[in-house]
Amino acid sequence: MARVFVTRRLPGSALARLGAEHETEVWPDRLPPPRAELLERTAGADGVISLLTDAIDAELIDHAPGLRAISNYAVGTDNVDLAAAAARGIPVGHTPDVLTDATADLAFALLLAAARRLPAAAQAVRDGNWVTWEPARHLGQSVHGATLGIVGLGRIGRAVAARARGFEMEVLATGGGGGGGGGVSPGGGVGGGGVSPGGGVSSGVPLEELLARSDFVSLHCPLTPATRHLIDARALGLMRPTAILVNTARGAIVDQDALVAALEQGTIAGAALDVCDPEPAAPGDPVLAAPNLLLTPHIGSATAAARERMTELAVENLLAGLEGRPMPHQVLR
Ligand code: DGY
Repeated sequence: MARVFVTRRLPGSALARLGAEHETEVWPDRLPPPRAELLERTAGADGVISLLTDAIDAELIDHAPGLRAISNYAVGTDNVDLAAAAARGIPVGHTPDVLTDATADLAFALLLAAARRLPAAAQAVRDGNWVTWEPARHLGQSVHGATLGIVGLGRIGRAVAARARGFEMEVLATGGGGGGGGGVSPGGGVGGGGVSPGGGVSSGVPLEELLARSDFVSLHCPLTPATRHLIDARALGLMRPTAILVNTARGAIVDQDALVAALEQGTIAGAALDVCDPEPAAPGDPVLAAPNLLLTPHIGSATAAARERMTELAVENLLAGLEGRPMPHQVLR
């Protein structure tokens, strides 16, 4: 029987399976374990199920001599030092696929909400400011037939592209669409380029061209050193003044100070974000006061079904890792 630390309670029943097989401690609070608690509890653990709010870094791995399996309850693994884990031969698992549709749905919901200015319109109703039908009030942008730029044509990027087809949008994408995470290189696209016959997506479009041509830009690349602040002041300056930026990936892909400045100056028309940097945005963070910005609290995968499947995958990954089997969803470096 191994010792396992789970850094938060997780939806569904799969944790019970883990508890039946291993000595399992689940952090009971709403907030993540503070750093000292995380270090202390993982120090004696054989396995950990971590969340994107937990830094599973080199220090933690050094402090956990018995750790032999890390299972991250997310598809993204930017909170895990993959090199430090690999150096110790510790497999790292993640939860791809089961959250793809939920996240793509949310990206499209944000796109639509920002385009049609739903937050302001709904607020006007609550404020008693719906006095009549007005020809020139609450005017938004057309989504149908517009151009959507997808940065990172991985699983989620492709699922967003599929939704865009229903809106008869022209879809441009960086990346070739082969990999799960959806790669992007700042200077240009990755992959073969051209129009993929089945999907109606122009893939391999250089980032600069995509930014300049898109009415909506939606980010779906993983956060890596190469994509940190990929959308900086220069990139924002390449976007159309009428364009809307959507981010359901990771906050740090965007230089948030530059984004706030771009919104204040009208460099772009709006942003709809499910992620920010840091998370959560603290009271007084300028992002909370930026004009034409819609921010949701990192809920891309937040459907009951997706979160329960994530628990199942996280448990399956950890059980495999503890038994010395390949994890079903192991992160490959
Ligand atoms: C992920 O999985 O990486 C999301 O950000 C949370 O589900």
